[in-house]
Amino acid sequence: MSEPKDAPAAKLESGGNDYNLNVHGGSIGPSVIDVSGLYGSSGQFTYDPGFTSTASCKSSITYIDGEEGILLHRGYPIEQLAEKGNFIETCYLLMHGELPNNDELQEFEQAITMHTMVHEQLQKFYSGFRRDAHPMAIMVGVVGALSAFYHDSTDINDPDQRKIASRRLIAKIPTIAAMAYKYHIGQPFAYPQNNLSYAANFLHMCFSVPSEQREVNPILARAMDRIFILHADHEQNASTSTVRLAGSSGANPFACIAAGIACLWGPAHGGANEAALDMLAEIGSVDRIPEFIKRAKDKNDPFRLMGFGHRVYKNYDPRARVMHKTCHEVLGELGIKDDPLLDVAMELERIALSDDYFIEKKLYPNIDFYSGITLKAMGFPTTMFTVLFALARTVGWVSQWNEMIEDPSQRIGRPRQLYIGATHRDYVPVEKR
Ligand code: SDX
Repeated sequence: MSEPKDAPAAKLESGGNDYNLNVHGGSIGPSVIDVSGLYGSSGQFTYDPGFTSTASCKSSITYIDGEEGILLHRGYPIEQLAEKGNFIETCYLLMHGELPNNDELQEFEQAITMHTMVHEQLQKFYSGFRRDAHPMAIMVGVVGALSAFYHDSTDINDPDQRKIASRRLIAKIPTIAAMAYKYHIGQPFAYPQNNLSYAANFLHMCFSVPSEQREVNPILARAMDRIFILHADHEQNASTSTVRLAGSSGANPFACIAAGIACLWGPAHGGANEAALDMLAEIGSVDRIPEFIKRAKDKNDPFRLMGFGHRVYKNYDPRARVMHKTCHEVLGELGIKDDPLLDVAMELERIALSDDYFIEKKLYPNIDFYSGITLKAMGFPTTMFTVLFALARTVGWVSQWNEMIEDPSQRIGRPRQLYIGATHRDYVPVEKR
């Protein structure tokens, strides 16, 4: 990681005093005004609920230009990685900063493959859940429980233990996710197969049954692999920030990733793919779209177009373009000619993108808008959509967690507040209240 370059200082005038604040420039993108010493010198905090103007860290993993709709992973455009690469080499890139050569790729892929099985005892966690438990509830519980099995890789200060814990998480998350699906539908767990690629192995563990030999469709495996790439990392989003904050206290990596899964579950974040498909189903037909567009624009109605809008992208989410193309490929491969949900989605996008409200607020489809249609066509229930998001994002969380631990300036994250509560008052005995 190159160190930030200093830029001309910023000057702040507050309470009759002037404060000179350092400005740091990165390799691309906005520079930052360093306010870390502001409280010490001024007795004042900065205030930025939702962190719309706050950089929480330095990072060299992912760069997003929201205005231009650009997403780079270690400098490589997401479109190129999705079209020309594969998920395993994207994992290596996110973890190590460079695309692997052949030897590096083989060693990494072999290491991941040899860690895909989970401890047999882990199966017992699933039977503690009701069969109709949401698979994300199972993911939070089981991933958090991994720290009870891998005491040899929870010392975050040991680089070797961080490496094995990172590889275990990347390798085992598909197995844990597939087991959550199998448990949910009442079928027996399927073991990973070492002769299959990462994505094909996941589809095998989800859709194979002991009673017949089923081959994984290579087109669907390629589509799954590309969907994993699109979801792998995305700068300091809510769940990644959760992982970093949990990790800043020294919590073990399994607990941190479980915290990230919990945050991702929310419908404003990773839960949007499930919510977007439910929304398309609720709309049901093209002629009902205007009714929902009206609701989305009504300030008094909490309804929002799920899969639309983004904190950073004020342009088309570049992942949504690739997702849209993949959606058509999957539907074509499966011979699904006229999917009513896709018809509604495409007409909804067309109408929304020409509506002044969405244009003025720069609301475009995001990664979650087309992913649900694709995953449903592949045979996944809507409750599994965010599980797949968490599966793919695990490598991003792990990469960001490692970067934070290795940052010498890293310290525990502890925001302050603007206090608006009661000032000092003395206790009143209950008989006098
Ligand atoms: C992901 O951060 C990441 O990188 C996340 C992610 C990743 O890869 O990690 O990209 C994954 O979470 C994608 C986003 C998935 N969420 C959804 O699709 C849910 C629907 N979208 C919204 O809830 C919303 O757009 C957010 C949460 C995504 C962004 O919220 P912000 O940045 O806080 O923006 P906002 O809520 O302040 O909205 C700005 C305005 C508001 O109107 P005003 O108050 O200015 O009048 O736009 C409106 C909002 O009411 N608005 C919407 C809308 N999204 C925002 N109006 C209707 N439908 C929507 N979808």
